[in-house]
Amino acid sequence: MTLRLSDAETSKFWNDRHQRLTDLRSGGDVSYDEATNSMFYLRRLSMLMDRIGLQNNRVAPLYLLDAGCGKGYFSRELAKLGHEVDGIDRSEAALAQCRELGGGPRYYQSGLSEWRTSWLYDVVLTVDVLFHIMDDAEWERSVRNLASLVRLGGKLIIGDWGQDGDHLFGNYQICRGRNTYVPLLEACGMRFESWESYRFRRSPIGFYTFTRIG
Ligand SMILES: C[S@@+](CC[C@H](N)C(=O)[O-])C[C@H]1O[C@@H](n2cnc3c(N)ncnc32)[C@H](O)[C@@H]1O
Repeated sequence: MTLRLSDAETSKFWNDRHQRLTDLRSGGDVSYDEATNSMFYLRRLSMLMDRIGLQNNRVAPLYLLDAGCGKGYFSRELAKLGHEVDGIDRSEAALAQCRELGGGPRYYQSGLSEWRTSWLYDVVLTVDVLFHIMDDAEWERSVRNLASLVRLGGKLIIGDWGQDGDHLFGNYQICRGRNTYVPLLEACGMRFESWESYRFRRSPIGFYTFTRIG
């Protein structure tokens, strides 16, 4: 039986990896070189743009939460498009780099299950983070908390695989499928819209999109 990393071990794993790797592999795919990771990030950015919408408004910008922002690639790119972005992550090493690079987003050290605000977001996105939360109870608290931060009519975008069931890959990745996400998020007042594959190399991952309807 494969042992899963505990919550504390997961945080240490990511902080060490963000310290050790200076390129996109740090939050991307370690098996890809830098050029391939650049493509991988661009592909997912354009999928996020499709879901967030191809509009911006200086007077009434969209408020986005990048939950598990890592070194802030998506936060910075989405801020460049005119959106107001908050990025949260547990890794102090990743956040130090985010702050050094600047570019508009506000960054906070927080777990996905712990982030509280006095405002709601138009879009909450979490790219390739939830499948690294190995503890099922912490994963559920995280999903419920992210859903609670989405305004009525707003969207929750989650990177995970599109199979029906769940699957453990090694000790630091557990993909949860439709049969896990959809009933849980429907009970949180969200409507399932779609799952679309990243269509990148052999990645089984894609984006779930949910809309708050109640
Ligand atoms: C694969 S990286 C993805 C980072 C970023 N979304 C990207 O695509 O570049 C996973 C990130 O999730 C963060 N993370 C893992 N578990 C977390 C948790 N429970 N709360 C907040 N961040 C977490 C890690 O620190 C790491 O930065």
